[in-house]
Amino acid sequence: MKTISLATVQEPVQPELQAVTRRLGDLSRSETGLIRQVGEHVLTGGGKRLRPTLLLLVAKMGGQNQDLAELAATVVELVHTATLIHDDTVDGSQLRRGRPTVNRAFNHSVSIIMGDFVYSKAFALLAERQLYPLIEVLAHATHQMSRGEMIEMDLKHKVETTEEEYLDMIDGKTAVLFQASCEIGAYLGHGGQHRDEFKEFGRSFGLAFQIADDLMDLTGDEAVIGKDRGNDLQEGKVTLPYIAALRNSPPEERDRYSELIAHPESINGGWDDMVQWVRRRGGESYARDRALAFARRATEIVAGFPESESSRALADAAAYVVDRPL
Ligand code: IPE
Ligand code: IPE
Ligand code: MG
Ligand code: MG
Repeated sequence: MKTISLATVQEPVQPELQAVTRRLGDLSRSETGLIRQVGEHVLTGGGKRLRPTLLLLVAKMGGQNQDLAELAATVVELVHTATLIHDDTVDGSQLRRGRPTVNRAFNHSVSIIMGDFVYSKAFALLAERQLYPLIEVLAHATHQMSRGEMIEMDLKHKVETTEEEYLDMIDGKTAVLFQASCEIGAYLGHGGQHRDEFKEFGRSFGLAFQIADDLMDLTGDEAVIGKDRGNDLQEGKVTLPYIAALRNSPPEERDRYSELIAHPESINGGWDDMVQWVRRRGGESYARDRALAFARRATEIVAGFPESESSRALADAAAYVVDRPL
């Protein structure tokens, strides 16, 4: 697949994305005190805006309800932001988008309550406009996301995690929100038609996205990804590259690395060796191939629609997702 920049993907909906950023800024500016302070920290502090991008592109392909699509795009970014605030708190992460996380810059209590504040604001915005079908989609999505995050806790430090368990978990914690964003894009822009196709596009994109993210945690450049490398293993997450490398290792080696994966605090300076092992045992290439397969599925779905600037951007998004720099 060709290498694509995020700017290329976002080009057809750039004005709408700027409007989303303006709306997010207005939300924090309309508050005072701590809410405003934390709001500005998390809502105006960057982020790729991928979920709004997909929602807006899908809606634009259909051409209807463009004003509501802008509101819905703001809402899905709010839901995403709330989950990041909570995720960084439960993961004990220090860095997000190259800046200190809310739990680090403020504290644990602020993260919990502010995550709830942002999450409930998203639903309140939809309720104000009586957009009940959108509330329904997002209620199911956020419920599934909590399920995914709970499964992830079940799987913590579980060296025998299977690929199936891993896929089920990332489906919930990540792919579901991409799926919901695309479904909403279809609901608004296409008058409710093609919901299933766009749902599958979003889900496939989301699975490719999270596998790529897990690869970046292993081999990415901290300065570029804006998060600490190796976080996943330190947090006990046994992601696809490790699952595949363990599967491909001879018994003795599997025992040795299983031990390290189960007790990551003992890795200390041995990180490069860990990365080398995952590479040697094909964990990196296997995960990349899986991500590419999901991205290809997403591309196939868009190819079933008449070509337009937005459909080309969605196909580009699928090409971007695996080889993105961050
Ligand atoms: C990060 O999502 C959380 C995951 C699902 C891995 P993004 O990478 O889309 O986060 P931002 O919004 O661009 O920072
Ligand atoms: C993704 O999980 C976050 C959510 C989907 C809520 P991770 O914990 O793997 O993501 P990062 O690495 O913190 O961005
Ligand atoms: Mg997490
Ligand atoms: Mg995390």
